[in-house]
Amino acid sequence: MQLLDGKKTSEDIKNEIAAEVLRMKADGQKVPHLAAVIVGTNGASLTYVGSKVKSCQQIGFESTLVSLSENISEEELLDKIKELNEDDDLDGYIVQLPLPKHIDEQKILMAIDPDKDVDGFHPANFGKMALEMETFLPATPYGIMELLERYKVETAGKHTVVIGRSHIVGRPMSILMSRKGYPGDSTVTLTHSRTRNIEEYTKNADIIITALGVPNYLKGDMVKDGVVVIDVGITRVEDASHPKGYVITGDVDFASVSPKSSFITPVPGGVGPMTIAMLLKNTLLARKIRSRK
Ligand code: GUN
Repeated sequence: MQLLDGKKTSEDIKNEIAAEVLRMKADGQKVPHLAAVIVGTNGASLTYVGSKVKSCQQIGFESTLVSLSENISEEELLDKIKELNEDDDLDGYIVQLPLPKHIDEQKILMAIDPDKDVDGFHPANFGKMALEMETFLPATPYGIMELLERYKVETAGKHTVVIGRSHIVGRPMSILMSRKGYPGDSTVTLTHSRTRNIEEYTKNADIIITALGVPNYLKGDMVKDGVVVIDVGITRVEDASHPKGYVITGDVDFASVSPKSSFITPVPGGVGPMTIAMLLKNTLLARKIRSRK
């Protein structure tokens, strides 16, 4: 069993980007500028956005945090989006999800300039991804592809089972793994809440990518020997013995699954840290594309 170490790999990627930023500066070029929009005070969202901004500072990007009230109207948020689209200094930005219930998430994502959509959530970018064109790949799936590639995990002709069909992880993951090339060329089954007898699929999977949000869901008796397991779950489970009062728990029961696996991501320290690194990589790409124009 080999751990797919997202913490180390994400540090490697951030170091590679930082080196490129230094080169850009030395050449007198503008450095990439990322903004993050957060609406309200959801604890997990604040943590993620804080990490994104901190990472920008570490690698020499410019960053802007746009904190908005939970009570902002949809129209006011759309005005803010328009402002960010028109801000010529800004290369890319993200609107942290989830948004408050009174705001139509799809409407907001549609309003983001696709050229600045470094989350890759806009339908134009999602379509380009499906059509194998150059675009911003959604950060979490992109991070998984990067882990598979850097650890040289074989994917061609393998049976990949994705659990969960969210727009952010499961659905794009199923598309990426079926695309031509490496990593990809996989035969993909996308399972979800209406799938019957899910173990029939997981037991026959060479690669399992789970993005369900149910702690310790995937057990050792649901997988075959040699399986590659990617755990995207990051549920906060209450734990009074921990200083924070919770522990981050994945979808995979690591104790029973890891002995059967050839490669597996830990939680924490697997997919999570990769997401931020890939967002930064997308922002660097956004800057490069803008500098060509
Ligand atoms: N919420 C959970 N994951 C993500 C992400 O990758 N991007 C944004 N914008 N919001 C999220």
